[in-house]
Amino acid sequence: MTTMKFSTFLGLAASLLVRHVASEVFIIDNDTPTALQILFPLTAGKRVMGVSTNIGDYDVEGATYEASLALSTGNLSSCIPVYKGAAQPLVQTNDTYQLWQQLFGSIVWQGAWASDYESPIPANATYTYNDTVGAVQWIMDTVKTSDENVTIVAAGSMTNLALALAQWPDMAKNVKLVIMGGYVDGQIAQVTGGDFVNDMYTDFNLMIDPEGAQRALTAPWKELVIVGNISSQVYPTQSLYNELIAVSGGMAAIKNTSGLAYVEDMVGNGTLSSSNLPFWDEVAAGIAAFPEMVTGSYETYVYVDTSYASPFYGSLRMVPADLRPRAGTKTTKATMITSVDVDAFYSKVVDALVRDWTYFCQSGKSKSLAVL
Ligand SMILES: *[C@@H]1O[C@H](CO)[C@@H](O)[C@H](O)[C@H]1NC(C)=O
Ligand SMILES: *[C@@H]1O[C@H](CO)[C@@H](O)[C@H](O)[C@H]1NC(C)=O
Ligand SMILES: *[C@@H]1O[C@H](CO)[C@@H](O)[C@H](O)[C@H]1NC(C)=O
Ligand SMILES: *[C@@H]1O[C@H](CO)[C@@H](O)[C@H](O)[C@H]1NC(C)=O
Ligand SMILES: *[C@@H]1O[C@H](CO)[C@@H](O)[C@H](O)[C@H]1NC(C)=O
Ligand SMILES: *[C@@H]1O[C@H](CO)[C@@H](O)[C@H](O)[C@H]1NC(C)=O
Ligand SMILES: *[C@@H]1O[C@H](CO)[C@@H](O)[C@H](O)[C@H]1NC(C)=O
Ligand SMILES: *[C@@H]1O[C@H](CO)[C@@H](O)[C@H](O)[C@H]1NC(C)=O
Repeated sequence: MTTMKFSTFLGLAASLLVRHVASEVFIIDNDTPTALQILFPLTAGKRVMGVSTNIGDYDVEGATYEASLALSTGNLSSCIPVYKGAAQPLVQTNDTYQLWQQLFGSIVWQGAWASDYESPIPANATYTYNDTVGAVQWIMDTVKTSDENVTIVAAGSMTNLALALAQWPDMAKNVKLVIMGGYVDGQIAQVTGGDFVNDMYTDFNLMIDPEGAQRALTAPWKELVIVGNISSQVYPTQSLYNELIAVSGGMAAIKNTSGLAYVEDMVGNGTLSSSNLPFWDEVAAGIAAFPEMVTGSYETYVYVDTSYASPFYGSLRMVPADLRPRAGTKTTKATMITSVDVDAFYSKVVDALVRDWTYFCQSGKSKSLAVL
């Protein structure tokens, strides 16, 4: 009896110890930061060290504004800082980007370089970020000083990582990198699917900075996870909205409860928009925070085509181990995700959003507001 109790105690102590030792901290590096990318790791009990921003869908100012907004909605700004990163890719400029399209055809989504691009920042909006250092220095400092395993979720251009690696190539050895993007085998879908599907298989994040993407992806990461086209296959649905609304206690409760602001941002008036986009970056953050969500993957060697005179400039290429280029083109081993448990993903969305984060910075705790 006594022995059993003692061993139970030891088991408990050991499990607490293991949880402490195997801790993991997150850096969210993105051109389009959204709440779920931050809330998933927090819900999983991980620490989010901060959000670093870069050019991509938005210019870097717009990305920084979006990061600041995603945090302030849940009163998370005081413990999760935002750092502004790359305003431009390493080599690519808007001119080279446009000229390449004259050579190889138009890219459907052109982000911050689209001719009709509009900043998301409302006139005279005030927003905060930590401007004592830039994102690149902050990423290096965070990796250098962390006692814990660092996971970077990079869901925008790879420019911040490329700049950090130029200065500190071995940074990668200490980090698990999870990226959104890395599409392969999309040619048939692009030809037969129309503009929207074509866009779904265009690797914008890599194409806006091909040289940065190649430098970043082929660094010696402790682990590299490429989420690939699976993230384009997971969408918000009306039944997810219905679930969010029911678990929150109805639309009236959502509208009058400040702790449900993230739910309100997601569901709006409760009806799914017809111009609904996939949970792209959220799937990447979800896979990083809850690796058990992954149900299918394979290992491969990858690189990014950096030849300007190529129709695949900025696209991910895969090669079998024995056919890796011997010189000139660096490759790296990666895990490509092919399937995720979509129901598990949706239930994590509900758990993360129907939750009051208001006192998280003060207490380290959030409170579920689920009524079901
Ligand atoms: C980092 O993760 C590895 C497993 O990948 C684990 O063995 C190690 O204890 C972790 N280190 C820390 C400091 O949490
Ligand atoms: C990028 O180039 C396009 C096409 O020339 C132009 O319309 C757009 O204003 C440019 N964007 C920036 C930020 O320079
Ligand atoms: C923004 O500020 C300027 C200068 O103070 C002012 O003229 C303008 O009306 C403001 N715009 C909005 C939308 O508040
Ligand atoms: C801003 O970031 C720097 C570098 O990480 C840190 O030393 C400083 O305390 C931060 N400032 C605020 C106000 O949090
Ligand atoms: C999506 O990617 C997987 C490999 O990760 C591939 O097998 C599949 O064909 C792709 N889907 C399309 C429509 O291209
Ligand atoms: C908010 O809405 C819920 C659900 O309709 C209701 O029960 C609650 O009394 C309302 N609270 C306030 C402060 O209006
Ligand atoms: C609710 O929002 C959806 C998506 O934004 C919109 O299409 C629809 O018109 C709105 N319905 C009402 C009644 O406002
Ligand atoms: C927001 O967070 C700050 C800092 O942790 C805390 O002092 C404050 O009480 C929180 N709540 C509200 C409603 O601002």
